[in-house]
Amino acid sequence: MFLKLFLASVLAASVFGQDDPNWYKTATYYQVYPRSLKDTNGDGIGDLKGITQSIPFMKSLGVDCIWLSPIYKSPMKDFGYDIADFYSIDPIFGTWEDFEELLATIKAAGLRLLMDLIPNHTSNEHEWFIKSVQGQQPYADYYVWKPSKGIDANGSQIPPNNWLSAFAGSAWEWREERQMFYLHQFTVEQPDLDYRSPLVLAEMQNVFRFWLQKGVDGFRIDAPAHIWEHEDFLDEPPSNDPNCPAPDQFCALNHTYVKDQEQVYDILYAFRTVVDEFEASTGEIKVLMSEASGELDLTMRYYGNETHNIIHFPFNFYLIWEISNATDARGVEAAIRHWLDAMPVGRTANYVLGNHDNGRLASRVGADFAMTNQMIAFLLPGAMISYMGEEINMENTFITWAQTQDPQGCNAGPDLYQRFSRDPQRTPFQWDDSNFAGFTNGSNTWLPVNENYLQVNVAAQQAALYSPLKIYQRLAEARKSAAVKNGSFDLRVVNDDVIAFTRVLTGEINFLVVANTAYEARTVNVDATFFPLLPIKATVFTASVDSPIQQGDSVFTSVIDLAPRGGVVLTF
Ligand code: GLC
Repeated sequence: MFLKLFLASVLAASVFGQDDPNWYKTATYYQVYPRSLKDTNGDGIGDLKGITQSIPFMKSLGVDCIWLSPIYKSPMKDFGYDIADFYSIDPIFGTWEDFEELLATIKAAGLRLLMDLIPNHTSNEHEWFIKSVQGQQPYADYYVWKPSKGIDANGSQIPPNNWLSAFAGSAWEWREERQMFYLHQFTVEQPDLDYRSPLVLAEMQNVFRFWLQKGVDGFRIDAPAHIWEHEDFLDEPPSNDPNCPAPDQFCALNHTYVKDQEQVYDILYAFRTVVDEFEASTGEIKVLMSEASGELDLTMRYYGNETHNIIHFPFNFYLIWEISNATDARGVEAAIRHWLDAMPVGRTANYVLGNHDNGRLASRVGADFAMTNQMIAFLLPGAMISYMGEEINMENTFITWAQTQDPQGCNAGPDLYQRFSRDPQRTPFQWDDSNFAGFTNGSNTWLPVNENYLQVNVAAQQAALYSPLKIYQRLAEARKSAAVKNGSFDLRVVNDDVIAFTRVLTGEINFLVVANTAYEARTVNVDATFFPLLPIKATVFTASVDSPIQQGDSVFTSVIDLAPRGGVVLTF
């Protein structure tokens, strides 16, 4: 009887992974941008019921954990990144009941859920801000308020300093009621919280507690680098960046005072203590992932040190920043090594190929190389973070100025919006070739559907023999293998165009990834590189759609044929 109970609990633990303290280290995370996945009420905006309906699809992809972009109550000036109440669900997305159903469906599928949390700012419609504007205690000090520097020749109040918003223009906004400026590092409607008030930290720790108690598996922390500003409030120096297109754009200044201040790490640590306390009392392993700083050494500090664990892993954007520009094997190697060489020993590496803030992978590197990038990222050691739509190689959608929704695009104006707008990577998910790509039964969508949806959609790729979707599924499957979870990692430049690596664990199925950066086909012999003593025969696990060798084919590792910009994953 006891044995039966024990076996049942082991089985439950392995199905749901609840007891695996390492679950987050090699998981595949799938970012859902809720407005754009699936609309079930016909208003042209995705909703929680739509996400719940899509869980079987995500399960079929083989991903492990969903990162949900914000669904909290919000006036949607920054599409949910302006939170008006951390404790409620926005009616655009649904109700508490819908959320509970989504969470239960996720858990029943053996998946996990991370919430996006935005500690740097709230919406200007948050009750704390409304009371702060009125000077009500204790909220008066919840936000960063500074007096005016005087009145200019036009009779306008002069802001405290030259700080700029990340979305262009002054980071200060005057409020008559309070006779002071407040700081907003993002839109005017996103006032910055002031962590110099201990009450703000305590409030935010309670937000973490609340969602942990709801049963979520952790958080993605938004914009951590911005949490603290230097207390002298001095002007920032000009960046003199020749690529910065306008003096009111964020890139015009060097952000010595608004980003990466020493206190950022203390505040993140205070968030981590909440997670650790929760873990200690429940035995459940919860995870924090975060945006990065921009500077590699500062990002690495998010991991913590020997005595303090802080963030389980800050995002590694080097594949976005560097693989996109890599024209040869050494460029790809550098993009991979950049992070791995800098990471403190024993920490969790991770790879991000795209998200809601960056142009789509397939548009940046081309459809062929996009899936080759996926082969690399999925098989590298560590966690993998995918943005919905990458599995079918969705591309950026052209958005006219009149259609532009993103505040960063709108603030840039009609001449510059295409450079700054994040709308192109946020358009509705492409399910099939029906109206609006199967995203909605309504008569419009909040952003237009990409015209390529007739070819680029889930249904077509499920029906095809070879497709990005099928490659993605194989890659997610490979990540569940012992060699990819725990095996050794050996990365080599095979020649100017081709890079390869192995993942090997004795006694297990091993993997070899070979990727071609050239725009022409290549044939390589990797025996001298990896198998000098005993040349081997390998089996194709997955390969580029137009690869001459395909899943199940046997190949000698002395003759590996690669499509232009293509890749193969072999087992041996
Ligand atoms: C993060 C989010 C971005 C948002 C900004 C302000 O960078 O990823 O979408 O606009 O923070 O919250």
